[in-house]
Amino acid sequence: MRHLLDIDDLTAAELAEILDLAAHPVERLASPLRGKGVACYFEKPSARTRNSTEMAVVQLGGHPVYITREELGIGHRESADDVARTLGCYHEALFARVYEHDILEKLKASNSIPVVNLLSDQAHPLQAIADLLTMQSERGPVDELNIVYVGDCNNVARSLALAVAAVGGSMSFAAPSAYRFSENDLDRIRLAGFEPMYIDRTNEITDADVVYTDTWVSMGQEDGRAERLKGFEGFQVDERLMSRNDRAVFMHCLPAHRGEEVSDEVLDGKQSRIWVQAANRLHAARAALAWLIDQPSAQA
Ligand code: CP
Ligand code: NVA
Repeated sequence: MRHLLDIDDLTAAELAEILDLAAHPVERLASPLRGKGVACYFEKPSARTRNSTEMAVVQLGGHPVYITREELGIGHRESADDVARTLGCYHEALFARVYEHDILEKLKASNSIPVVNLLSDQAHPLQAIADLLTMQSERGPVDELNIVYVGDCNNVARSLALAVAAVGGSMSFAAPSAYRFSENDLDRIRLAGFEPMYIDRTNEITDADVVYTDTWVSMGQEDGRAERLKGFEGFQVDERLMSRNDRAVFMHCLPAHRGEEVSDEVLDGKQSRIWVQAANRLHAARAALAWLIDQPSAQA
């Protein structure tokens, strides 16, 4: 059975297939989920992910069922294994947004239903697929782009790095030393295809085609907010950075913390592609789901 907990669960060819399906959906997607359900489990808030996932299910002819953390009570009301087996009785797939990535591993272990990560503390693969689509449409082939990620080397950055690597590209990371990738992350990115390069200060960013950032305080990190804001001082994406990189597009997975990792002027400025990126979440979710349910093991 296939699962998608992070981008490196896919081969490069499979990722290319999903990207192609996302970019050219009309003639290839029918209603493979007619009369079928998809469980959408959320431990954290969401605007883009919940709505794009639910609408992807609807567009494939199926019925999404939104489930909260309290309802399932994984680990205290019922074990992750029993929850996955239960949902497997009714649904074709389980899409889940969790605090701890390990919960996804436990849900996946039952092998009773394909599990797709809708964001964990470690990864955000459907965001990365939407981001590749956006880079392709806005700036051209991703393997030819100078992509600079500014800020926290977090779940979004990690999945994006793996996705860029899988299509033969590379990227660099402007991040304070305390907020860079772990050795294990670096090994995964190297294995996927490139050696991550670090940039110490934002005024050293030049010739970028894409400037990408995400929040400095991810969901679940609120207690450390003051320390993190201090740690990221000097790493805001502002107009000076973008005008020095005048052919670059600006990307952000959203939600943005305006005035922290990015200024209003950049978010709302002419280089910003954040709404194309948000819209691409639907294409990415629909393509990934269509691909997943088309795998032989999903039909067993
Ligand atoms: N980018 C993203 O995942 O947004 P939400 O948290 O609103 O789903
Ligand atoms: N890194 C952010 C992404 C939100 C879509 C978080 O985990 O909160």
